[in-house]
Amino acid sequence: MNITVNDRECSAQVGDRLLDIARANHSHIGYFCGGNAICQTCYVRVLEGAELLSPMSDAEKAMLSDKLIKEGTRMACQTLIEKPGKITVLSEVEAAKRLTLENPLQLPAYMGKMGWEAAVKFTDTIAFQARREQGEHALEPTQLLHDVAAAISDAIQLVFNAVQAAFGVNRSTDKPEIKADKGCGCDTTLLAKTATCDNGHGRIVSPEVLQLHQERSAVCN
Ligand code: FES
Repeated sequence: MNITVNDRECSAQVGDRLLDIARANHSHIGYFCGGNAICQTCYVRVLEGAELLSPMSDAEKAMLSDKLIKEGTRMACQTLIEKPGKITVLSEVEAAKRLTLENPLQLPAYMGKMGWEAAVKFTDTIAFQARREQGEHALEPTQLLHDVAAAISDAIQLVFNAVQAAFGVNRSTDKPEIKADKGCGCDTTLLAKTATCDNGHGRIVSPEVLQLHQERSAVCN
């Protein structure tokens, strides 16, 4: 089955955690604690298919305000797919990013709201984390360190990708499409890059262009 995370189609299966699906498909989502119900950055709004997801966990009951729950908010690290069907979610970090780009004047109000909703659950959140110290939903330090390191490394990769995209670096490995030829099958767009033409077609000098040329069985005399 597929689910949609931040408008991106992601492959998923019953039993998968929303956080893991988003990570596997490089969808923008927060998870600085590595999925251990600490950082509260993995909030997602379930736009469709809430009934297909696992019931609220103790962590979510402790951290999510009534208002956020009513709006369909879940914690991606706490939510599993229980039944197949159409599921659409928008992560809170992606929503904030879109607001920043499209409507920055609404950002202070948004931040105020999220801050307030966190504040009203502050006592419950602290009580929940304290109970973990005493054994309930306990954290295993080595696993926690490993999860946090993985989360940071993924975050760095996302930033790196975003910077590359911003500067127009094309990481695609797709082969360029042949757009035109002069009767011999040569890609005139690529051949133009070699800037040498002494037989009416073009002279292939770059290994990359040569390989492409051979793969397409083009003949250039
Ligand atoms: S609370 Fe940190 S990933 Fe969910």
